[in-house]
Amino acid sequence: KQSAVIAPSILSADFARLGEDTARVLAAGADWVHFDVMDNHYVPNLTIGPMVCGALRKFGVTAPIDVHLMVKPVDRIVPDFAKAGASLISFHPEASEHVDRTLGLIRDSGCQAGLVFNPATPLSWLDHVMDRIDLVLIMSVNPGFGGQKFIPGALDKLREARRRIDDSGRAIRLEIDGGVNVDNIGAIAAAGADTFVAGSAIFNSGDYAETIGAMRRAVDG
Ligand code: DX5
Ligand code: ZN
Repeated sequence: KQSAVIAPSILSADFARLGEDTARVLAAGADWVHFDVMDNHYVPNLTIGPMVCGALRKFGVTAPIDVHLMVKPVDRIVPDFAKAGASLISFHPEASEHVDRTLGLIRDSGCQAGLVFNPATPLSWLDHVMDRIDLVLIMSVNPGFGGQKFIPGALDKLREARRRIDDSGRAIRLEIDGGVNVDNIGAIAAAGADTFVAGSAIFNSGDYAETIGAMRRAVDG
């Protein structure tokens, strides 16, 4: 298992002051920026795209940008995000016609690639691509909105994903997304996650540094 990464989801940041709020959460100790892309088609909400990613880079954000694509189709937006400064690009396998092709597209564009699993999406999608991915993202809510409640079944799925990753012998990150907070992050880490997305729990807290610090202590402890 690799060192813990805290990746605040800027879906819950102040969109009218996105650069400042992103810089603030990074200064407060965040490792990555989790960037939620929703298209009002694959999921029932509409958020931000490559132009906003590029604008954050231009604003001076140097931390890894972890792009979570909740879009269909997937492929045509990948090169745009790579050009806009994305570091990792993850997608939902059932939203892609050709999963192996999409993974190749992401890696050929110079980004790391991840697969995302909804609560009802089986991990068997990993069967033939473990050597092609850098990250597995387990959703602990149904995608589309911040501020939802953590679905406890995600813990068993994390344990199974951890087994698969360890068996592969590769340095694949195991990320969790949805309803993560200071109270449940310890159990989530114990189930095998090493990369933690949290939106509302961080951005709705008064003190980002205090919340991120408490999360890190719960993960290490
Ligand atoms: C949900 C998004 C999540 C969301 C997490 O579709 O993928 O990244 O922003 O928000 P919280 O932490 O509030 O559940
Ligand atoms: Zn996300």
